[in-house]
Amino acid sequence: MARVVKHEACAPIKVDPASWPKDDQGRPKVLSLCACGISAKHPFCDGSHKKCATEQPGVTYHYDPATGEPRPLPGAQAGDCCKG
Ligand code: FES
Repeated sequence: MARVVKHEACAPIKVDPASWPKDDQGRPKVLSLCACGISAKHPFCDGSHKKCATEQPGVTYHYDPATGEPRPLPGAQAGDCCKG
């Protein structure tokens, strides 16, 4: 399983430690960064990765940005994006 993710940003996303959310004791909270690429709150995880649970091995998917629904990419094989 794999997915194609389109990124249009051309600069880093900066996270200011001063604005980091804190727990009840003032300690920085654990933040989850999105590794699946389909979060609507990138770079943070918003739980969208649960949609990836139904992906099939050997298939590459595209997630429709309007609906968030996965669609297999015809002719694409998992790992194609990693080949030089
Ligand atoms: S890891 Fe991407 S939404 Fe959670």
